[in-house]
Amino acid sequence: MNEAVQTSSTFTPRVFSGIQPSGGLTLGNYLGAMKRFVDMQEAGTHETVFCMVDLHAITVWQDPAKLQRATRELCAGFIAAGIDPKKSILFNQSAAPEHAQLAWIFNCVARMGWMQRMTQWKDKAGKNSQNASLGLFAYPALMAADILIYHATHVPVGEDQKQHLELTRDVATKFNHDYGVDFFPITEPVIEGAATRVMSFRDGTKKMSKSDPSDASRINMTDDADTIAKKIRKAKTDPEALPSEAKGLEERPEARNLVNIYAGLSGLTVDQVLADVGGKQFSEFKPMLSDLAVSKLSPISTEMARLMEHQDEIDKILAHGAGQAREIAAPILKKTYEIVGMVGA
Ligand code: TYM
Repeated sequence: MNEAVQTSSTFTPRVFSGIQPSGGLTLGNYLGAMKRFVDMQEAGTHETVFCMVDLHAITVWQDPAKLQRATRELCAGFIAAGIDPKKSILFNQSAAPEHAQLAWIFNCVARMGWMQRMTQWKDKAGKNSQNASLGLFAYPALMAADILIYHATHVPVGEDQKQHLELTRDVATKFNHDYGVDFFPITEPVIEGAATRVMSFRDGTKKMSKSDPSDASRINMTDDADTIAKKIRKAKTDPEALPSEAKGLEERPEARNLVNIYAGLSGLTVDQVLADVGGKQFSEFKPMLSDLAVSKLSPISTEMARLMEHQDEIDKILAHGAGQAREIAAPILKKTYEIVGMVGA
């Protein structure tokens, strides 16, 4: 992992992505992010770096004991889903202080107007923005730092992170331009597959989210088989049969969501799924989806629970990952400081 810092456009192919340890993992996190991280790790075409972004989590209040538990549980989730600490770097953000250090530089590169335009800021701060934390406002600059401190070239995320990744590109472009360098890569978002936007089971126009007050709106990665089956059975649908082609899902957000989830879990395309289930009623399709979800998710939740019995092992993995992460991050931070004109960098 020791590399000479690159200052040209030939960057090592490297994937970075992060998940917040704020509450439990949902099926949205799994299909939109984690499962795809595992695919990228297994493809072996990129170095892969995955992070529990605890500094992002505290932009809204977190109970300290719960944050610790959620960070370890998220680490267990990564491993249970297939992230192998021998193949990928796995660590928590605060253990590599270079993230926060680069974020400060980026706070000075990014503009207030850029942050104000972020839809996630508008949604999360809501009408009470005067009372939101400064960290919540600056959140995307820290996210840009997460990515660029590794000179990451590719970032797999769900659809909801697209705007933040555009901002990351803007930060890299402005830094390179202001300092007359070609130092930070212009990162490619990787938003691919059938399930980049998993929707709520109660309202097909709203994202499935761990912060939704209704537990029935989502599948949690810790839900047992009965709970998963019950939530799918009760998921909102429409009275029509399933269409045979994707076009037939256009005005049917709930139906589309369930088909996307089936495709995401099975690894089939939406067209392949519909070729098989077109014409079926939901009364027939839901049990199929339920069986598939249980068969894919139960082994993960069982393994997560097992790993949580061995927290010392989890902490060892995180500490090792942080060491590997810092080997890449430290020289990039040092070079950034030199470029900016910090004495003693
Ligand atoms: P977070 O923690 O909200 O979500 C983690 C990942 O899960 C994806 N995701 C979904 N995908 C599909 N459908 C859904 N319903 C759904 N809900 C969540 C998210 O798109 C994300 O990929 N800001 C980020 C964390 C972050 C980050 C980074 C990501 C911090 N630094 C650097 C990439 C690179 C966030 O809050 O994700």
